Amino acid sequence: MTVMADRVLIVGAGLTGATLANLLANKGQRVLVLDKRSHLAGNCYDQVQEQILVSRYGAHLFHTNSRAVWQFLHQFADWRSYQHQVLTKINDQTVTLPVNINTINQLFGLKLKTAKEMRHFLSKQAIHLDKIESLADYLLSNVGQVIYQKIFYGYSRKQWGIDPAYLDTSLSSRLPIRYNFDNRYFTDRYQALPVGGYSRMVKKMLQHKQIEVKLKTDYFKLSKAKLKDFDKVIYTGPIDQYFAYRHGRLEYRSLKFEFSKIDCEYYQNNSVINYPDLSVPYTRIIEFKYFDPSAQATKHTIIAREYPKSKGEPYYPVPRARNSQVLAKYLAEAKELAKSGVYFAGRLGTYRYLNMDQAVAEAMKLAEKIG
Ligand code: FDA
Repeated sequence: MTVMADRVLIVGAGLTGATLANLLANKGQRVLVLDKRSHLAGNCYDQVQEQILVSRYGAHLFHTNSRAVWQFLHQFADWRSYQHQVLTKINDQTVTLPVNINTINQLFGLKLKTAKEMRHFLSKQAIHLDKIESLADYLLSNVGQVIYQKIFYGYSRKQWGIDPAYLDTSLSSRLPIRYNFDNRYFTDRYQALPVGGYSRMVKKMLQHKQIEVKLKTDYFKLSKAKLKDFDKVIYTGPIDQYFAYRHGRLEYRSLKFEFSKIDCEYYQNNSVINYPDLSVPYTRIIEFKYFDPSAQATKHTIIAREYPKSKGEPYYPVPRARNSQVLAKYLAEAKELAKSGVYFAGRLGTYRYLNMDQAVAEAMKLAEKIG
């Protein structure tokens, strides 16, 4: 008796969809990957423009502590070590992020040298709070009002469109305070960029005789008859859209990227500079050349200003109580659907702020479970 391979439909050709497609295809399953966009790689999409590798949806810096994820992705690209650093501009001053001893010395003209001195300085600034119920509470209780106002308040207010007093504490892990001189933005064991970019890597992940890819194809426009062809569906689009928003819309933050080609070798002195000042309408400027060694010799450069907005492509789930309550209802329905072979995955499918490595790790786990 011959056993027929499962037919799997994967909605979304981002890192989650590509990881699942590759692993399930390796297990002999026949996979169709759809994406409504005209390109692969989801939000990691990049392409060479005017000799510089440019990310269409913002800077993408890979970092992970997972050896399994690191080894998995090594099959599809060569990787170049890259340690990311971020600066933030406060009036005429530029200081390093995340907050560390250098930041405090730059900001206050001090010469702190040890973790003990840093702790002592911050303890004098910090505000004692009995309960930490919001992002604002976390920051105020760690760094106090002055540093909060200078570095965090305006950036978070612009980024999320709401006062940090209404943002939940889940964001605090993205804003560490360091008691050393480590200026690196990430401290993970593996930090690197794929040579040639993420789009090339994802293309390779999907190059498999068991995988078919269809771009410019919206899942919601497929006929019911077509859907019957599949034993499993893995959906990586917005979870609320799948259920036709019947429990309400989940809030997302979006971004407008304003790209400019500039006729000078470098526009700024770092790949990413943040602008926390509320009078500046954008949150940061990215200069792509810093991520692409093959572009160093060009006489021009390309930058993108990032303007947060509430409408547009869904990028960031907004971490506040109302959204957690709505999400819980969708997740309960999703759990039921898993019994009939429909699975939700990825940043939009689970409405979580996932980094690339987490997206891959979770996709690997799901492939193991359902493959
Ligand atoms: P992703 O959103 O990439 O892919 C989902 C795909 O589904 C999309 O291509 C979409 O078009 C498709 N889709 C949706 N609905 C559909 C439908 N109805 N029919 C067909 N297709 C549909 N991470 C990190 O580790 N380091 C970093 O520096 C950054 N930087 C960063 C900057 C910005 C601005 C953002 C928004 C995100 C990051 N990330 C990041 C996160 C990173 O982008 C994220 O982890 C991965 O893109 C997640 O991949 P997914 O495949 O889950 O989603």
